[in-house]
Amino acid sequence: MARRQVRAAGSRGWLPWLGFALLPLAVTPGAPPGSCPSACYCVATPELVQCRYERLEEPPGELPLTVHNLSIVGSNLSVLHRAAFAARPLPDLRLLRLHHDNIQTVEDMALQGLPALRTLDLSHNPLQSVAAGAFAGVPLLRTLQLNQALLAAPLEDQLALALRNLSLRRLELAGNALRALPTALLPAGLEELDLHNNSLQRLAASELRILDAPGLRGLRLTLGNNPLSCDCALRPFLAWLRAATTRVPDARSLRCSGPPALRGAVLLRLRPEGLACTGEEDGEPGQLETASYVFFGIVLALIGIVFLMVLYLNRRGIKRWLHNLREACRDQMEGYHYRYEQDADPRRASAIDTPGL
Ligand SMILES: *[C@@H]1O[C@H](CO)[C@@H](O)[C@H](O)[C@H]1NC(C)=O
Ligand SMILES: *[C@@H]1O[C@H](CO)[C@@H](O)[C@H](O)[C@H]1NC(C)=O
Ligand SMILES: *[C@@H]1O[C@H](CO)[C@@H](O)[C@H](O)[C@H]1NC(C)=O
Ligand SMILES: *[C@@H]1O[C@H](CO)[C@@H](O)[C@H](O)[C@H]1NC(C)=O
Repeated sequence: MARRQVRAAGSRGWLPWLGFALLPLAVTPGAPPGSCPSACYCVATPELVQCRYERLEEPPGELPLTVHNLSIVGSNLSVLHRAAFAARPLPDLRLLRLHHDNIQTVEDMALQGLPALRTLDLSHNPLQSVAAGAFAGVPLLRTLQLNQALLAAPLEDQLALALRNLSLRRLELAGNALRALPTALLPAGLEELDLHNNSLQRLAASELRILDAPGLRGLRLTLGNNPLSCDCALRPFLAWLRAATTRVPDARSLRCSGPPALRGAVLLRLRPEGLACTGEEDGEPGQLETASYVFFGIVLALIGIVFLMVLYLNRRGIKRWLHNLREACRDQMEGYHYRYEQDADPRRASAIDTPGL
């Protein structure tokens, strides 16, 4: 019912405000009536408009043309419709804050009519779908804030399409439970990436290569408050971090969250070679050793079988050889016997002589 009221009001020129008026401060004298919407604050000058905790279901239509910063916080916008702002273009709007607005869908061309927009904050919204052309029509957009906005659905692919044509400089993705670097969301030329309070245990070597690719060499990323796991898998990242500390502004405050022995340790005080692996990872080399023992055993068995076959095939030759050997032994023994007998006398003589000395 509320929704219907809003729509009807919208068609009469946007006077949809269900909420009570909150002190419209210092509206420029002579501005057309309603230039600061009743649901919003216009602070000091109509350049800054804040519409807070009102039950707006559409962006307000009657905004001062001169507005630079607009924030609508705590409303229930649900869907940011195509051309939601186009009914009343705001040629000077540079910053648009739409956080805690229960936005689930951003349609194509939703920001049409805001040609000067540089900063868009969609944080704290349960985004479910973002159209490929959601940010079309705002070519100057440089900062996009999506903190705690990607928790409701896996949005990376949709966002990658939507960000394709932008020249973003700063992207905020804090608090999104990310487990890996969102490589698809890093347009060339990005300078700042905020990844604090996510679920990153490490950055893998492949991710570090992407960070060192030509278009992203100027990128600095914030990584605080991630559950970094200080085991051997963290070595590539730690080596990279020590060589590129300036690229992680909060590098010095990064701490290990595991394994237990290193919990709370300052990451930059550790050496990459010093990071060991826990029991789990040790399992793999153990299995490898078992496999190599089995292989070694099989090879030995094969050699044994070949040896036995050679023996079997050569049994006549071996018999002859044994016979010859026995003959040779006998000759040798006879020779020895003879020599022994010959030598016996002098030995005995010396043995008898000795006590007489
Ligand atoms: C608009 O927001 C920007 C960035 O947050 C800020 O620097 C600027 O002072 C704000 N403008 C007004 C009129 O408050
Ligand atoms: C927000 O709006 C949607 C549709 O416009 C409605 O279904 C929902 O109940 C609203 N939520 C609140 C908390 O008012
Ligand atoms: C990206 O830009 C190209 C040309 O600049 C345009 O043809 C295309 O439609 C744009 N794509 C989106 C999703 O806006
Ligand atoms: C970190 O992010 C989670 C959601 O992923 C959120 O619930 C929590 O409040 C955030 N913590 C801080 C300190 O912002």
